[in-house]
Formats: sequence, C-alpha cells, structure tokens
Amino acid sequence: MRHVISVHDLSAEAIIDILDRAESNLAVARGEAVSDCLSGKILGSIFFEPSTRTRLSFETAMNRLGGRVIGFAGTDATSVVKGETLADTIRMVSGYADAIVLRHPREGAAKLATEFSDVPIINAGDGAGQHPTQTLLDLFTIRQEMGRLEGLNISLVGDLRYGRTVHSLAYALSKFGNTLNLVSPEGLEMPAEVVEHLEESGQFGLACHNPEEVIATTDILYVTRIQKERFPDPVEYKKVAGKYLIDPELVSQGPDHMIVMHPLPRINEITPDVDAMPQAKYFAQAFNGVPVRMALLAMVIGGV
Ligand code: CP
Repeated sequence: MRHVISVHDLSAEAIIDILDRAESNLAVARGEAVSDCLSGKILGSIFFEPSTRTRLSFETAMNRLGGRVIGFAGTDATSVVKGETLADTIRMVSGYADAIVLRHPREGAAKLATEFSDVPIINAGDGAGQHPTQTLLDLFTIRQEMGRLEGLNISLVGDLRYGRTVHSLAYALSKFGNTLNLVSPEGLEMPAEVVEHLEESGQFGLACHNPEEVIATTDILYVTRIQKERFPDPVEYKKVAGKYLIDPELVSQGPDHMIVMHPLPRINEITPDVDAMPQAKYFAQAFNGVPVRMALLAMVIGGV
C-alpha cells in the first residue's frame, strides 16, 4: 500500500485485512499494551481545514506506535499565508516526514498531492470529495456492532450532497452487498454518480426527505450534519439548517438492534438525550479511529 486517497482504491479483501489488523491493535489503542513498530518514523500532519477527531486520532495512533508527528492545524502560522502553493508545501513536508496526512478544502487535493510527494499521502478529507479513513473506521464500527458488513439496511441521513463521509461510505458498503436508503433535505441529495452506482449494483433502497419513512426497517441510522462551510450562499444553509432532529422518539421507532452512527461533529441533528440510549454508537465510532489509523500507518509507513 502506498497512497490512501479514495475507497475506490481498496478492494473488499483489502478493507477486511485493514479491519482485522485494527482489531488486533485494540489493546495498544487503549493504552493497555505497548508497541514501537513505528519508532524513528515521522508523520507529517497537515490540516488546511479544521478537525478534532481525524487529526487527533492520527496523532494518537502514531504516538501509540512509537512514532512522532510534525505538522500544522490551520495555515495561519505557515508560509501558505505568504502564497506558497499546495505543491510546494507537499514537496517540503515530504522531505521531513515518512508519510503525510492531508486535509484540504478542495476536492481532488489529496490526489494532486501524490504528484509532488516522495512519501505516501493519506487523504483526511478533500472538500466534498472523500474521507476514506473515516469510512474504514465506520466499517470497523459496523462490523463490531452488527457482526457483519453485508446484508444490512443502512439509512444515510442529512447532507448527502456535501458530506464526504457518506460518499465514501456508500461506495464502500456497496462492495459488500447492502441496501442503502438516502434521506436528505431537498437540494442536498446524494450526487447522481453515487446513486447510479447503487442502482447499477442493485443496492439502492429508497430516497426520501423524512427519516420516519425508513426508520422501521433500518439496521444502521447514519446521521450527518449539514455542511455549512460548503454552501456558496448562507441563505441556502439557513433554509435547511436544523431540518432533521434525531431524538429518542424517532430512535425508538427503529428495530431493537438498530444502531445510530454519526461521523461527528454533530451540531443539533442528534439530541443529547439520545447519547444515553444503547443505540448511540457515535462516541465508540470516534474512538475506533485510533486502532484503524494505527493499522493504516503501520502498513503505509512501516510496511507491516
Ligand atoms: N469525522 C471527522 O472527520 O471529524 P473531524 O472533522 O473532527 O476530523
């Protein structure tokens, strides 16, 4: 494995292999065991957009494996503000680090970065494009909770237009054979190419605007926030903000085994009183970023 840019680059077998490796990392991820398999290695962590989970779980993963991290979170104190290009930034950091984790507001930025890097690039989210490592931790959580990755009825709810996590996840789930329902406010529907892919592979369930239409048959309710920062017009954002409220009443309408996931951050789309329900898995999901990213880093940097 070299670059990790898109879920399209990962076969079902490769995904299972990463999840199995992540499983075996759990004790180290929790700090209950020690590993130094990336001792002497450096990760370049360069985030042009805000992040809490992705950046910190990559840092935790690298630290848990005995490696070190350099980088920046926000460009204010970097030469990007002087006008340095992404290409030159990547050239520099690739000389300082053994792999680069990149988050950037522009779709396609991670792919572009591969052209200028001597070390592996890991896409930590490129605009409204993809977020492949989030998808891997989502799949890890689904397998952990449901015991399988196939034959599930998954309802993706929220901003399906701009939400990169749901783009990556829809493609990845389709590698295993599932049914996907697409629930979004008007104007924030899933991009046509993703819908066509689901239709062609016979995995398209229902598209609708109201979660109540799918809740009774849903195994996994995957909720996303409305991506305010991607709206060209703030007035359009205000029209759809707060459109969905996932509350205990709605969650209780799902099957007993249903789980609720969210890549986070949530704004107000899941009410805090859902947190205590056994269906709420989004904080466990966020922790799973550590073992999954440990597995990826060990493969990409350590070659193991
Ligand atoms: N899920 C996710 O990407 O969260 P952050 O934006 O906090 O990294």
